[in-house]
Amino acid sequence: MNALLVGGGGREHALAWKMAQSPSLTRLYAAPGNAGMASCADLLSARATDLPALTEFAEKKRIDLAVVGPESPLIAGLADALLSRGTRVFGPTQAAAALEGSKVFSKELMAKYNIPTPPFQVFDEAGRARAYLESLPDGPVVVKADGEAAGKGVYVCKSRAEAQQAVSAIMEDHIFGESGNWIVIEERLVGEEASLMAFVDGETIVPMIPSQDHKRALDNDEGPNTGGMGCYAPVPSVTPQVFEEALNRIVRPAVRAMIAEGRPYRGCLYAGIMMTDRGLSTLEFNCRFGDPETQVVLPLLQNDLLEIFQATAEGRLAEIEVSWADRKSVCVVLASGGYPGGYKNGETIEGLEEASRLPDVTVFHAGTARQGDRFVTAGGRVLGVTGMGHTFQEAIDAAYRGVRAIRFDRMHYRTDIARRVAGR
Ligand code: AMP
Ligand code: GLY
Repeated sequence: MNALLVGGGGREHALAWKMAQSPSLTRLYAAPGNAGMASCADLLSARATDLPALTEFAEKKRIDLAVVGPESPLIAGLADALLSRGTRVFGPTQAAAALEGSKVFSKELMAKYNIPTPPFQVFDEAGRARAYLESLPDGPVVVKADGEAAGKGVYVCKSRAEAQQAVSAIMEDHIFGESGNWIVIEERLVGEEASLMAFVDGETIVPMIPSQDHKRALDNDEGPNTGGMGCYAPVPSVTPQVFEEALNRIVRPAVRAMIAEGRPYRGCLYAGIMMTDRGLSTLEFNCRFGDPETQVVLPLLQNDLLEIFQATAEGRLAEIEVSWADRKSVCVVLASGGYPGGYKNGETIEGLEEASRLPDVTVFHAGTARQGDRFVTAGGRVLGVTGMGHTFQEAIDAAYRGVRAIRFDRMHYRTDIARRVAGR
């Protein structure tokens, strides 16, 4: 069959790499893809948010299944547009993607259906948000822009003054445009985080192996927040009991709630959870695979991913038996120096082939481009190097062997990915 994959980051390279292993795949197209994906997909020039171009291409090329990686096109209604032209889709409709597209919708859904989440208030007016902050004791609090903000709309504040600044930036300076018309102010929780992704076909839920992201730019969780500097899977602190509890109290109720709200959810549902002293809580839902979580979770999947996608799109997920390798997986992100702030593109990347030849190492491209016969940097997060092993230490060693084989000017990476679980 012919498949179209929308997106062009490390997550999409991992998806393409796994989809390309399916015996039922005839041709895989990626829009826009990235330079590293050219080995497993035909790259199209269409942007991921160019809905007319993508739907027209899918119809013309008789695409049997479209898989949408990033949130923006889903929130903009790409799944709906494809479905209306007769193309099957892995990814939620616009109404269901509101779980990520609107923090207000997501928080109110959790409140209505008793899904554990930090206590919160919503505001559509800066004055009232300020007054509310004044009514709270001075201390940590979290301020979130309602809509899409390229992963930058969450302010984890240490004090009331910091929170007031966040309110100003979002609601008065409009730094995220209309995404800041509403805000959520919520209690700041403390605990260990985990990412729990699941295939959902409307009703049936097939959970994936939990993973843990490292969001801060520097070692020891210092420096600014990023899209993710590395991760590992599985997560030892997500014990079988915690896992069951997360499914029973968060994922299953959310899927049932979406049915009850007339917005059945199909695709990958991502729950960002926190394990606190007072139990599990939900920090966010995403309407897509995590990045870089996908680069550690998919290498552990033993099934044909295309078959799972098809079954999800057709509401037949209950027919599929999913199995996971009993191994550990660690991904280290190689970023351009300066990321998440400003950085320079066009640096030559060396050692890619050497790294890919290493045993238990897979290199996923994120922000790369081709210049003649060279790969060059073309983004903040440039590559994800995944290592596998029977223990975390083996997986860590494999990942960093891959990392050491690769060089580009001002390359930055964390040296402590998965260190917390190294002894496990
Ligand atoms: P979100 O996009 O809502 O998950 O927020 C991004 C990140 O901000 C999360 O992964 C957490 O690290 C942090 N965060 C969000 N909400 C809270 C909260 N209520 N308490 C503590 N940290 C939070
Ligand atoms: N790595 C965090 C995310 O994909 O949202």
